[in-house]
Amino acid sequence: MTPLLTRDFDVRAATYESLRAAHGPVAPIDLLGVPCWFVLGYAEVLEVLRNDTGVWSKRLEDWRGYTQGTVPADWPLLPAFRAGGVPFAEGREHSELRAAWSAALRPFQDRSQGAARRLEARVRRQADELISLLGERGAEGNADLVDEYARPLMLMAVDLLAGFGEVGDEVMRDIRSLLDGGPQTAEASARLLDLCGRVCADRRRAPEEDFPSRLIAAWPECTDEQAATAVMHLVSMLGELTTALICGTLLEVLYQETADTTTGMIRETVNRAAMVHPPYANLTFRFALADTVLGGTVIAAGDPVMLSVAAAHTDPSFAGAHDPSSVFSSRAHLAWGAGAHQCPGGPLATTLATIAVERLQERMAWLEPTLPPDRLPWRSSVLMRGLRSLPVRYGLRSPSPVPPSPERRSAPAESGGAGSGRMLRRLVRILRRDERRDER
Ligand code: HEM
Repeated sequence: MTPLLTRDFDVRAATYESLRAAHGPVAPIDLLGVPCWFVLGYAEVLEVLRNDTGVWSKRLEDWRGYTQGTVPADWPLLPAFRAGGVPFAEGREHSELRAAWSAALRPFQDRSQGAARRLEARVRRQADELISLLGERGAEGNADLVDEYARPLMLMAVDLLAGFGEVGDEVMRDIRSLLDGGPQTAEASARLLDLCGRVCADRRRAPEEDFPSRLIAAWPECTDEQAATAVMHLVSMLGELTTALICGTLLEVLYQETADTTTGMIRETVNRAAMVHPPYANLTFRFALADTVLGGTVIAAGDPVMLSVAAAHTDPSFAGAHDPSSVFSSRAHLAWGAGAHQCPGGPLATTLATIAVERLQERMAWLEPTLPPDRLPWRSSVLMRGLRSLPVRYGLRSPSPVPPSPERRSAPAESGGAGSGRMLRRLVRILRRDERRDER
């Protein structure tokens, strides 16, 4: 059985292609000491996602190794898998949870609603503040667009939507370790769950304009623990995956001559980035409910399969079907999943990424990468794929501070208003310090 995480794992394409060459669309792998099937074929990934035969389950109880106790208690991905909630539910429980999620997200991602417009205005404003922070160093300079732009921007969005009040140092580090599957993940996720639980208990008493309040309104019978689990998923998806999507889009803008970033086309570039650099690269397990055949391989009941969106996107049957030089990208990609578990937050993530890129385009006179694409550092995590840093040189169009927005004047106490500049400054400082430490 081939271990997935070799020293070459950061060069994902090579790992996937050698697995595909050796085994075809479904390969047996060793994932940090746990055997599983790694699905690389586009058709096979889509078949399992759609689950027309009902043979696939995401419930941990349907994993033979887990129920028989052969999964090591300290397996690094266990905390993420054990989190429960909508990604790990099936049947009626799943439909009920999905309904609550949809109702809670609708006000923030249906752009005809006031809450969505206010959120967008605040994120736009915070993007401008981050760009103005760069301007304080001079009209031209060097920056890291991960730690000085995309990540603090999405941490502020987490703060607004999850209703944290202020993202402190520890919260920020915990969010970063959530999807890493490293030794610190279990403790980080316990601390975050505790924080989310306190916010949910608070909102049950006094609702505000945030996701926990909307979730509790849509699902009043939920426990604080159930609501906290949902908020945790929002935090990791927004904090890490959406940061990765912004950076993937910036990669397209900076390195691909075909990327069209004229107004109205940025959404298309975001879609293309989701296809070329899918942030949720490898999905949490599904388990076969009965013996079945997938891509010519027999999968026994209770076996785990890991669907690789990243490998499916480089499968020649998918990658060969569209013209890489076209500005238009395919909508048939699987970056948001498909079927019953398809991502309910895709429109929100796309809107936030579009705002982030559009503000840079608007405020920068020029922007150029300082590293060749093959020297860019990627984070090593099994589930997600995102840049560790994206160094650039920039020239600002206008280094002057941004004038207060009408929204800020009318609602001085709201987040994204008065205190957000101070908080952004602090976030950037901490992120840069952590990045230097990671590099050592
Ligand atoms: C770029 C950002 C994002 C990417 C690439 C992404 C991708 C995905 C994918 C591929 C799935 C399917 C997982 C599976 O089938 O096993 C998924 C599920 C999910 N996503 Fe996202 N997502 C993103 C952002 C968000 C945001 C911002 C939210 C919430 C606001 C969110 C909430 C969820 C939830 C709750 C599920 C589980 C749905 C279910 O199991 O029914 N995602 N996401």
